[in-house]
Amino acid sequence: MIRAFDALSLPLLRWLDAEDAHRLAIHGLKLLPPIRPPKDDAKLAVRAFGLNFPNPVGMAAGFDKNAEVPDALLRLGFGFVEIGTVTPRPQSGNPRPRLFRLERDEAVINRMGFNNDGAEAVLRRLAARANHGGIVGVNVGANKDSSDRVADYVKLIETFAPVASYFTVNVSSPNTPGLRNLQQAAQLDDLLAKVIDARERVREKAGDTPVLLKIAPDLDLTELDDVVHVARSRRVDGMIVANTTLARPQTLRESHRAKEQGGLSGRPLFRLATRMMAETYVRAEGAFPLVGVGGIDTGGAALTRIRAGASLIQLYSPLVYKGLRLVEDIKRDLASTLLRTGRDQLSEIVGADAAAITAEDWPV
Ligand SMILES: Cc1cc2nc3c(=O)[nH]c(=O)nc-3n(C[C@H](O)[C@H](O)[C@H](O)COP(=O)(O)O)c2cc1C
Repeated sequence: MIRAFDALSLPLLRWLDAEDAHRLAIHGLKLLPPIRPPKDDAKLAVRAFGLNFPNPVGMAAGFDKNAEVPDALLRLGFGFVEIGTVTPRPQSGNPRPRLFRLERDEAVINRMGFNNDGAEAVLRRLAARANHGGIVGVNVGANKDSSDRVADYVKLIETFAPVASYFTVNVSSPNTPGLRNLQQAAQLDDLLAKVIDARERVREKAGDTPVLLKIAPDLDLTELDDVVHVARSRRVDGMIVANTTLARPQTLRESHRAKEQGGLSGRPLFRLATRMMAETYVRAEGAFPLVGVGGIDTGGAALTRIRAGASLIQLYSPLVYKGLRLVEDIKRDLASTLLRTGRDQLSEIVGADAAAITAEDWPV
């Protein structure tokens, strides 16, 4: 079924303008019949942030910004889905074109700018599926023209707590001017204090919703020291490493397209995101689990990211090039690695290579 979907859709989608292709993929997923999700190997189950994930492969934020197809994605075999980024008020984002494929690099550049339907519409969709089960995280951000960005995050935590499996506090999108400044120690401390406070305020009616922090891969190591320190002291439940990069590796072949402004994702992000994962893992010292994202396009790449420190992984851009079968391919490879090495669960190898990776030359 998934292979047939890929075979039909990939050539067509790649022929279309990237944003039209994305829209069409969402429409196609809305039409997905109510198939049962494939049964996952019990060894792939992961417990993290108090949640039980059937498998460690998630859909990254930005694909289903408006919560239109979380159940279809779960049915296709994702272990969890992150919707958003959602902002309090709807916004249209940057002018098109704002999404570009770098075909020969198996990469994407986007400067979408948090286009989304706004909290009210997204809440309505999530409330309508609230009893469907499955782990659906809500990624939250501030409106571009907000006069109080911290208040935007707080409002979103209060609004979505009853329907969110977890929250991601996104302070790492490069396409909202100034947003990444929220990663600076003093600002981040203030933001996280207020976000965690909001979570505690709604705990009685909404339960204990984990709060994760999603960071940019472009932090330098002193900045990362501060970010992990603040995340630990404010007791966040986890971190997601990483968002898109503003860097343009020398190795990019599509040098013309590479000049487009925005965040780069996909294969050229893999080494930087792996290094940032390892650097975060050694700083977190087991205080909370980490989610790895950025250029994971094979089972081997997933394993590398897990050995660098990720308890869970997420995918977006590689799906453009590999199709939805990538999800099953990664799960199959991870399960067979566990079997071959006589291990019972992935947690046994999380971070096994982190220290060694931090000793390598910095990826360029
Ligand atoms: C078109 C596009 C839109 C994205 N939108 C968001 C977003 O709204 N919020 C967010 O936290 N990350 C967003 N991301 C970043 C992804 O979630 C992910 O962190 C990044 O793309 C690296 O993973 P990948 O190489 O698997 O794509 C977006 C990525 C792409 C390609």
